[in-house]
Amino acid sequence: MLLGGQGTRLRPFTLSTPKAFLPVANVPMIQYQLSLLSRYKIDTVILAVSPQCQKYRKFFGISKSLGINLYLSCEKKPLGTAGGIRNAYKFLKGDEPFFVFNGDIISDCNLDKMLEFHKKSDADISIAVVEVENSKDFGVIVVDQDKRIEQFIEKPQQPLSNLINAGIYIIQPDILDEIPAGKEVSIEKEVFPELIKKGKKLFAYIHTGYWKDVGTIKNFKAANFDIVQGKINLDHANKLQAESFFSEKVMLNGRLSTGKNVVFGNNVKVSGTVIVGDGCYIGENTVLKDAIIFRNVLIGKNCLIEDSIIGNSTFIEDNCEIRDAAIADGCRFCQYTKIKNSGNSVRL
Ligand code: GTP
Repeated sequence: MLLGGQGTRLRPFTLSTPKAFLPVANVPMIQYQLSLLSRYKIDTVILAVSPQCQKYRKFFGISKSLGINLYLSCEKKPLGTAGGIRNAYKFLKGDEPFFVFNGDIISDCNLDKMLEFHKKSDADISIAVVEVENSKDFGVIVVDQDKRIEQFIEKPQQPLSNLINAGIYIIQPDILDEIPAGKEVSIEKEVFPELIKKGKKLFAYIHTGYWKDVGTIKNFKAANFDIVQGKINLDHANKLQAESFFSEKVMLNGRLSTGKNVVFGNNVKVSGTVIVGDGCYIGENTVLKDAIIFRNVLIGKNCLIEDSIIGNSTFIEDNCEIRDAAIADGCRFCQYTKIKNSGNSVRL
């Protein structure tokens, strides 16, 4: 699993928390992938990590409970998406094909069917693809009638197809010899186009279920809401869905998912989809609408939080209005503060 990126598009949250640890519906993002892998009885997972590698030991416990042996493949400096895979060579056993996952996608891809497709096609690499309306911000894939990949173009100006790279691959181990060791190499920009040129067999497996690239603030928000709304069929997401929330103090007109030790004041109004993390306090008469509140956040009375994400340990005093914002960890807003994103950020 590739986790060595900088996560720049998810700043400010990735400044203090690596992407894999960010909460999606109150559980670390990585848990959705581990849950999927355990569904398909994958028992060995290698995390290809660059900054803060040892931090990822935290996931050994979760993995064990899912029947997964976890290994850390640390990069002293980021080696890129192909370099990270090459660097994990030493952990791979035998000549069996292996899966590679981008760490910032959430999907319920059928891995058994994908592996069957890979074997039937006798592919060197199979890439899971999804169809989207606007493909220009992704790796665009052009296939022939047998789903053999003819072109792979990363973020083209004028896309030739609506099929995009979903960030899940099956790779034959001998392909790793094509990636130089110890160098920064991109699988999307260098390795895939080069292998196609060399006549290697790259095939596209079309995934039609749930898929979200969670690498931007907009998509991160959408994935959180999708999960609370039950749009993905993953075991622990289904469990979360089954837990119904009730509090006499909250007027609930939508869906609310809460962590542990959350305290609501009287007459809190919740509408749309709202997620509140562990240890938060929401003051009386506050309105939460389509909001994600991370852990240990304190929100005073008569506030409005709408279409926003509030980072860990932030303190919002009484009578504040925060709309369409991504607030970093540890901020403090004095009473009557009003914030609204102007909508000019192209990176959202
Ligand atoms: P942005 O800075 O927002 O683009 O984030 P990113 O670099 O994390 O995401 P990108 O979409 O570029 O990368 C796709 C996946 O590859 C993510 O899961 C990254 O963590 C991972 N990745 C990117 N660069 C490296 C790297 O140098 N080494 C490893 N091991 N993984 C990487």
